[in-house]
Amino acid sequence: MTMSRPFDNYRTAIDDPEFFFGRTALLKYFRQNPGWVHVLLGGQRIGKTSTLRAIEWSMLELPPDGPSFPFPVLVNLQAEQPRNADHFRYLLIERLRDALGRYLRTADQISWGDLRKAYRKFVEQFDEVKIKPAFTEFKLKVSSAVNQEEFRAAIEDTLDELRKLRFHGILFLLDEAEFVTRTDWGNDAWSHIRGFKDTDPLKSAVGFVISGFRGVLEYQQRVGSPLKNIAQTTWMAGFERETADRLIKRRFHEEREVLRDGDNAFLWECSGGYPFLLQQTISTVIDARRTGELSQEALVRRALLEHNQVFRDWWNSDGKADGLTERERTVYGLIPEEGNVSLDDLLSRLDAKLMPLLETMQILCGSGLIREVENERYEMGSRLFRRWTESL
Ligand SMILES: Nc1ncnc2c1ncn2[C@@H]1O[C@H](COP(=O)(O)OP(=O)(O)OP(=O)(O)O)[C@@H](O)[C@H]1O
Ligand SMILES: [Mg+2]
Repeated sequence: MTMSRPFDNYRTAIDDPEFFFGRTALLKYFRQNPGWVHVLLGGQRIGKTSTLRAIEWSMLELPPDGPSFPFPVLVNLQAEQPRNADHFRYLLIERLRDALGRYLRTADQISWGDLRKAYRKFVEQFDEVKIKPAFTEFKLKVSSAVNQEEFRAAIEDTLDELRKLRFHGILFLLDEAEFVTRTDWGNDAWSHIRGFKDTDPLKSAVGFVISGFRGVLEYQQRVGSPLKNIAQTTWMAGFERETADRLIKRRFHEEREVLRDGDNAFLWECSGGYPFLLQQTISTVIDARRTGELSQEALVRRALLEHNQVFRDWWNSDGKADGLTERERTVYGLIPEEGNVSLDDLLSRLDAKLMPLLETMQILCGSGLIREVENERYEMGSRLFRRWTESL
């Protein structure tokens, strides 16, 4: 019997500040540059949505006399399924008004000085009290389409309201942006945002974090892409060892299980600090202890089987998933079991050109499967995944 755990057994994004670990530098960076257009890239289940959530709560927090932040608006584009550029703008405004409504309703009951409690309330659905639909307030003609002028007017009005609540500006956190970059109207939508960020007098008050992986990266790099010269790219990576150790300690404490010598090292080796794998292997170890003892090798085999399907997607040997390309698989195979390898070494062993190899290394690091230990030196991430690739 396995126990049930929060966040759907640590499979969905972390939306409780108490359970969120690491990412300090990243959060600081976004707080320092909230008016920019950011592209936040990272592999499957590396923690993109959790990071957007953390940006959200860190800006909603009421600091005693701290600096003021923009008002964060999280939009999951995959879940919202915008149909065209007008509908996309509509959704941004709708989510903005909805978040503002939830912010105020929360503040009625709990001070935002008590961040954890307030944020938990904020993410809850307010079933009993239906939030007034935004569009009765703005008197827009068509209820699910917003053109560029209407978008601007809604932003301008909301900025005034927000200022009274100590928020300076708006930061849209657009999760799963692949949904838009791969549509035929995506260009219109991003071009509008680009134009807005270039010339609108309100431009510095509105920022964007556009999150995704390969699809967003390729779109951004495409010739003529409206995101090309305006977006600032940031890559996610796995946890540092120190963050992983803190998370392990917390999970064991939470589940009243004694942490033994060697547990940290084992979990680090298995997961390589990959957030999703770390959470899952912790669960595997704890569950195994409750039902008897397993050798490390048996634990590894159990974890291999548990993650077989996920690993298959990451490895992507049939080319159907969002995982590695053939080229990336080859380079991954050259990362040594122990120690690290330098870029120069890889260059000569692959007889590769510099730029394509640099791009490959960036994607492999961003996918969380390897890590850059110091400048231009790379080491293996999760050994569990490496074991899996060797056992096919
Ligand atoms: N900062 C964190 N602290 C603790 N656990 C984390 C953190 N980030 C990610 N995780 C773990 O990884 C899992 C996946 O995180 P999340 O959903 O944020 O990733 P994602 O990159 O958005 O995934 P997807 O590619 O599926 O959209 C979470 O359920 C959690 O177990
Ligand atoms: Mg996500």
